[in-house]
Amino acid sequence: MTTISQPVLAYDRKNEVKEFEETKLGVKGLIDSGITQIPSIFHHPEENLVDTANSESKLGVDPIPVIDLSGPKEEVVDEIREAAGKFGFFQVINHGISVSLLDGLVKTVKEFHELPAEERMKYYRRDMETGVNYFSNVDLFVSKAASWRDTLQLRLSPTMAQPDAIPHVCRNEIIEWNKEATQLAEKLMGYFSLGLGVKEDKLKELSCGEGRVMVGHYYPYCPEPNKTIGIASHTDPGILTVLLQDQVGGLQVKYDGKWVNVKPVHGALVINVGDLLQMISNNKYKSVEHRVYANPLHEPRISIAIFFNPSRREDFYGPLPEIVSPEQPALYQHFTYNEFMYRFFSKELDGKSLTNFFSLENKS
Ligand code: OGA
Ligand code: NI
Repeated sequence: MTTISQPVLAYDRKNEVKEFEETKLGVKGLIDSGITQIPSIFHHPEENLVDTANSESKLGVDPIPVIDLSGPKEEVVDEIREAAGKFGFFQVINHGISVSLLDGLVKTVKEFHELPAEERMKYYRRDMETGVNYFSNVDLFVSKAASWRDTLQLRLSPTMAQPDAIPHVCRNEIIEWNKEATQLAEKLMGYFSLGLGVKEDKLKELSCGEGRVMVGHYYPYCPEPNKTIGIASHTDPGILTVLLQDQVGGLQVKYDGKWVNVKPVHGALVINVGDLLQMISNNKYKSVEHRVYANPLHEPRISIAIFFNPSRREDFYGPLPEIVSPEQPALYQHFTYNEFMYRFFSKELDGKSLTNFFSLENKS
């Protein structure tokens, strides 16, 4: 009787999602209520799951490079080009942002997520009218399974959220982090440009640092980490992501068909290439799938990311004309950033479908 039972199942899921949303307290609220089993809306299909007991990198060493930005510029450019082409991910140290600012940011974003229920729920909403919102699972209503994390989200540019809309506990830290992380990202975009053999301010000219969104994720303890995931495998859509993670761990990157850990390094920042940079670089840099496993530890995991995107929505993006030639033809079509974002929002957070969509090789 599948024709009858399937609509009933779909209806139940819809209702459970709605009830969860209406608590306005996210996954943290479920844990605070003392649950020992996770609701079925969080159950992921087998292929998404991580065997946390057995998830250490089998390569023995963690291959994601840690790049010292205080080294000679040419060397740094080479190291970044190599890391971004091979792994799509690297960490940076001596990046110029004070470690005490980073520690303060982690601490205060954690404090936001641990505010008393009645304080926290005031921020819970999905619209971005004030430039600040708080929710569990950006794709809660479209994904097949929810993930074990909550998020505080802020618009940083072109127009930043009004300061008084930003939760007071982490306001100063976020304002300072936005300034410092943007400076760092602009420097890195210069290195990414030089690594492609184009002028240093090429990506900046394309407005690549000017559309910025910040997320402050909270991954609470999960009582059944082998049934769900912290963030499902995905690639980031934009130019690049600057991510600060605390010492708990859980971020994994796909390399050579295997998942490898991005080990926490105190004071370091994780940098990764997004789909748009992969396409602009004509595959010189790779946007790589990554995920976070559901946190099996009693200590919550905090990560704070800024996504750097272009701000000019009508402009066309695609492989830079300077780097394509008869020998190295363009692998992607050109598209406006508007069209790109439309494609992004019409899919779930999974897989590499966005770069595939614009690929010229898949069109026949
Ligand atoms: C993301 C992401 C990783 C993390 O927000 O896109 O990949 O460590 N986050 O939280
Ligand atoms: Ni990501």
